[in-house]
Amino acid sequence: MAISLRNTIRLSSPIFTKYVYINTKSCNKRFIMTSRSKLEKVLQGLEKNPYFDKYADKIAKSQKVSPEEFSQRVENEEKKQQRKKVSVHLERFYTQSSWSSPFLNIKVQPLWAHIKKNNFSDHAPKNMYITTPIFYVNAGPHIGHLYTAALADAIARFNSMLGHSVFLCTGTDEHGTKVENAARAATLPTSEYCTKISGEFLKMCDIFQVQYSEFIRTTEERHQNAVHHFWNHLDERGHIYMGKYAGWYSVSDETFISDAEVIQKKDITGIKYMTESGNPVEWTEEDSYKFRLTSFQDDLKHWLKDENTVQPAMYHKILSTWIEEGLQDISISRPISRVPWAIPVPSDKSHTIYVWFDALVNYLTAIGYPNSFSSQFWPPTVQVVGKDILKFHGILWPAFLMAAGLEPPKKLLCHGHWTINDLKMSKFKRNVISPFEAKDHYTPDGLRYYLLRQAVLHSNANYNVGKIENILNNELAGVFGNLLHRCLSKAINPKRIIPDPTTSISILKSEIALANIKVLEEISDLTRTLYEECHLCHVVDAVMNLLRITNRMFDYYHPWHLCKSVKLDSIKELEAVLSLSIESVRVAAIILHPIIPRLTSNLLDTLQISKENRTWEDTKPLHVRNSLNGAERIISRNEVLFKKVRNETYI
Ligand code: MSP
Repeated sequence: MAISLRNTIRLSSPIFTKYVYINTKSCNKRFIMTSRSKLEKVLQGLEKNPYFDKYADKIAKSQKVSPEEFSQRVENEEKKQQRKKVSVHLERFYTQSSWSSPFLNIKVQPLWAHIKKNNFSDHAPKNMYITTPIFYVNAGPHIGHLYTAALADAIARFNSMLGHSVFLCTGTDEHGTKVENAARAATLPTSEYCTKISGEFLKMCDIFQVQYSEFIRTTEERHQNAVHHFWNHLDERGHIYMGKYAGWYSVSDETFISDAEVIQKKDITGIKYMTESGNPVEWTEEDSYKFRLTSFQDDLKHWLKDENTVQPAMYHKILSTWIEEGLQDISISRPISRVPWAIPVPSDKSHTIYVWFDALVNYLTAIGYPNSFSSQFWPPTVQVVGKDILKFHGILWPAFLMAAGLEPPKKLLCHGHWTINDLKMSKFKRNVISPFEAKDHYTPDGLRYYLLRQAVLHSNANYNVGKIENILNNELAGVFGNLLHRCLSKAINPKRIIPDPTTSISILKSEIALANIKVLEEISDLTRTLYEECHLCHVVDAVMNLLRITNRMFDYYHPWHLCKSVKLDSIKELEAVLSLSIESVRVAAIILHPIIPRLTSNLLDTLQISKENRTWEDTKPLHVRNSLNGAERIISRNEVLFKKVRNETYI
């Protein structure tokens, strides 16, 4: 029978902060005394331990010793475990610091296991590393790229609001034949071309407020050093060998292609062709360095045992099936004669490094690998990836890391693609939507709002102009903007006074006002869960629901009549309506901040909410917190939150 830790372990009232009451399954009740920091550490460990129920009796016994002694024992045990150098099963990571894979013959360094262990007792990690994929520079940004980046940014901002220290990394992927060809087509030297397009991605991040901690380019020297170090490390551990790479090669296109991209014409020649270009292809074999991916099949399965590793669940299933079907060693180099625009293999100038090996290492480079590696940010907390690159991030990347003795990512957050009027976006179809052009019509925050509000992770999202206009006009301009505007309008509130919600809201007793207050009181916890599950569209739904109810409450009280009355009751009622409405607007703005940072910042500035009062804690209504921040305020201006967009015709 499972026991609820919430019910069994409780910190006592603030007056008796040194006491804790532990009631285990065996009904042992006793008070113990300890310092709060040590106590909390121990409690967090206990809460996380899946065997707490099983060991409840032992825990109860351990309470007979003094808490200091108990903590000391825990510490001693940790130290003892760290000293042990034993080969153990991956399942036992949490209790030891050195491990060799249960499935590999090769010994690996303890770092992965060590970090895992340290995180075990960490209920809410303080340091979070969030990444976007790095963008190819063979073309400029489109809305799909913006979506990936904005999604990661919103998750990062939400976690910062919770008080975590968040490192967000993005950047550009600049090597490979496609980039070289694009530079040639643009008649620019390749490095100059890369700088130009990389600059566009940088500009996209700036305009759309993607607040990165690090923007990395794979052509930077620090990255080449990191890639070389990583390669040598894998090589030293025996994960790399010289083998053969074989596949269909198109001489005219200078590229290997997959079986799926090959067609055989119905003629007697038997020649096969590349579907896209129509050029003939031939089966080709060449020398290549290979990575022993096959050895990691079981380790990868083990990593995937935790269903949260890849989300949403459907992508976890897809990935598991791929791994189940079996893996093959992969080629990680190309002859320099064929792919010169790439990082050379260390100590073999005749080969360059496969672009995906190079690209994936960016996540390490960005946090200082190898020399000033910020290990407190490792492993990545959330890595956002599109479904097309799930295989690289869900198979190659964790296998590379395991081979290096580093812990694989905690979570891959995978998303579907944006289509344009239900068609795949492509240069040939001339339907690529530039975020720079779209923002001229919808504003940067308008576009962010639409992308994050419209997409659900597990399927493709469709970009449709009519729909954008509808959503922006109805929700941002209509529901949200209109409510704010009415509350500060000359007719209803000529002095633009916002009464103190902590004292005024309680006089409203109508059904609609009570419903409004209930939704307002519950929305913080609700949307926190939705953010944690990365369901951003549902966050917006919840906020819109709050604002719609507030608008209804506002209408119900006819404030345009109340404001003309001189009766004290009416004046008080008007104050309460304004105060509840503005309180709903304030909470809505803070909750939506990760999604539309600029609009909400402007709004909160208008409401004179100071920067330090924009944390997640501030999404709780003031009357619930009895906060002193609710004092009456006079607002200096009444700005339009979002101007309606009209008759968009450019697509
Ligand atoms: N350079 C690689 C990633 C290397 S990460 C070590 C790459 N670049 S990309 O520019 O092609 O794609 C970057 C991201 O944008 C990927 O997550 C990809 O899924 C995403 N998108 C590209 N087209 C997209 C849509 N149409 N819709 C949504 N996201 C899309 O892959």
